[in-house]
Amino acid sequence: MSPIENEPTTDKPRILLLSGSTRRQSYNTRLARHMARSVEQAGGISTLISLADYPMAIYHGDDEAQSGLPESARQLRSLFKSHHGVFFASPEENSSMSALLKNTLDWLSRADGDEPGKVPYIGKVAAIGGATTGASGTRLGLLHLRTVLSGLGMLVLPSIMTIPFAANAFDDAGDLQSEEQRTAAEAVALALVRTAAAVGVTS
Ligand SMILES: Cc1cc2nc3c(=O)[nH]c(=O)nc-3n(C[C@H](O)[C@H](O)[C@H](O)COP(=O)(O)O)c2cc1C
Repeated sequence: MSPIENEPTTDKPRILLLSGSTRRQSYNTRLARHMARSVEQAGGISTLISLADYPMAIYHGDDEAQSGLPESARQLRSLFKSHHGVFFASPEENSSMSALLKNTLDWLSRADGDEPGKVPYIGKVAAIGGATTGASGTRLGLLHLRTVLSGLGMLVLPSIMTIPFAANAFDDAGDLQSEEQRTAAEAVALALVRTAAAVGVTS
C-alpha cells in the first residue's frame, strides 16, 4: 500500500530522531537527545538513533548497480517507514547540511527492488534543527535541509530549532541551559508530535 493511502494514527505518534554528526562530543547529538526527551513530554514515542550504527559509503552509481542498497540503508528505510515523523539535527558544513546526513538521505531515496525510492519519506512530518559553535545557529544549512526534505515528499514544519554558540549551550546532563531555548525545543516537539498525530503516516 502506498503510505499516503494510510490513515493517520490514533495511537501516540512515533518520532524518529537523528543527528547528522557521529562525533563523540557532538552538539547536534546532544540536541537530538534533548529533543527526544521533549517529544516524550509532548506525548510522542521517541526513537533516538545514531548514524554510526548505519554506516554507508559515499553514494556511487556503480556500487548501487552492482550491489544494490547497503544493508544499513535498507534498515534505515524500514525505520523511517515505521515512524510518523522525524527530527533531524544537522551540523552546518559550509552553509549546508552535513555531508553525512546528505549521503544518508541520498541512499535512502533510492528504489529498493520494486519499492520506489521516496516511500520512506512521503507523508512523514519532519522538524529540523541544528547546533553550531558559530553565531548563525545553522540557519543557512537548515534552508538546504528543508529544500531536500521537501523534495523527498516530507512535510517540513516551519519552526526550526537553532543553537548558536553550542559550546556553552548544554549543561553537564546534556540539557539546554537557556530557558528560551528549552521553551523553543518544547514548542518544536509539540508541533512535531501534534502534526505527526494528525497527518503523519507509517507504511
Ligand atoms: C567542514 C566544516 C565546515 C563547517 N562549516 C560551518 C558553517 O558553514 N557554519 C557554521 O556555523 N559552522 C560550520 N562548521 C562548524 C560546525 O558547525 C561545528 O564544528 C559543529 O560543532 C559540528 O557539529 P557537531 O558538534 O554536532 O559535531 C563547520 C565545520 C566543518 C568541519
